Amino acid sequence: MVREEVCRRRRRAERHRLLNAGLLAGRVAVVTGAGSGLGRAAAIGLAAAGAAVVVGDLDAERVEQVAAKISAAGGVASAQQVDVGDPEACERLVAVALERHGALHVLFNSAGIALPFADGFAADIEPETWDTVIRVNLSGTFYCCRAAIPAMAESGGGSIINTASSMAHLPTGLLDAYAASKGGVAQLTKSMAVGCGAQGIRVNAISPGYVDTPINATLFGHERARAGYELGHATGLQTPEEIADLVVFLASDAARSLTGAVLTADRGWTAFKAPEFILRKRLQRPEGTSAAENA
Ligand SMILES: NC(=O)c1ccc[n+]([C@@H]2O[C@H](COP(=O)([O-])OP(=O)(O)OC[C@H]3O[C@@H](n4cnc5c(N)ncnc54)[C@H](O)[C@@H]3O)[C@@H](O)[C@H]2O)c1
Repeated sequence: MVREEVCRRRRRAERHRLLNAGLLAGRVAVVTGAGSGLGRAAAIGLAAAGAAVVVGDLDAERVEQVAAKISAAGGVASAQQVDVGDPEACERLVAVALERHGALHVLFNSAGIALPFADGFAADIEPETWDTVIRVNLSGTFYCCRAAIPAMAESGGGSIINTASSMAHLPTGLLDAYAASKGGVAQLTKSMAVGCGAQGIRVNAISPGYVDTPINATLFGHERARAGYELGHATGLQTPEEIADLVVFLASDAARSLTGAVLTADRGWTAFKAPEFILRKRLQRPEGTSAAENA
């Protein structure tokens, strides 16, 4: 990434942090997959908005680093290693929120995996690959919600934010387990919103397009592929910070009308599709510039 783009992102993130300051004061949040990408950005964003955050991830070292970063910035965070595919570990994650911070109001389920080489066309996928993807992406979301709902109800209500994907609405094909897992997350979100409503809990999901995070390292490792994905979004690839802003919004009372919603927050990825060569010709984006810079 070019230096100017990094500086621009930092300035924008700083502006949003100032705008959101105090929005979630007194709230307690749990974030899974908080060691990297969307979860990391959201944990930092939620803390900057005033929430105490329990930072959970499979990678214990990364959660310690993220919690330390939040604390260094004046926020409140606790690190907890968790495998979201283990229901008991999800119960322990929620217990950390209650024991260390006294309540639970927000759950952001971001932990997820994509296995681009093992996952593919259904007829070729090994059952173990299917089970692994479903275990983390779909069952993991369910286990965390299941553990969090009673604690949130006890805390007076709250907001659950799940992470679906554009693949839940517009699969690219050849990533069948991933697409199925995210379709499941979208439908689980809508269905759970009914039962949660009576407990004062809103449940929504975000469906990003393609965000520049390590999960896409294989895709974006090739310059031409990266450029193709960039053109497939109306305003370029997404940043983890812009999804974090949505998470803060959904966690806040400003989103009180929203429950059972699966928000396609994908810079137009699912709004249109055209072959890359047509887009390249029509859009005439100057070489080396990103539409994301102006979005
Ligand atoms: N990046 C994108 O383009 C994109 C698009 C749509 C949806 N998503 C979804 O967003 C979520 C976050 O993706 P990301 O881009 O931040 O990826 P990422 O790889 O940067 O982060 C995912 C995090 O989840 C953690 N994790 C993996 N398995 C876990 C487990 N069993 N228990 C706990 N933590 C586990 C990883 O250690 C990692 O820190 C995922 O659910 C992904 O499917 C991402």
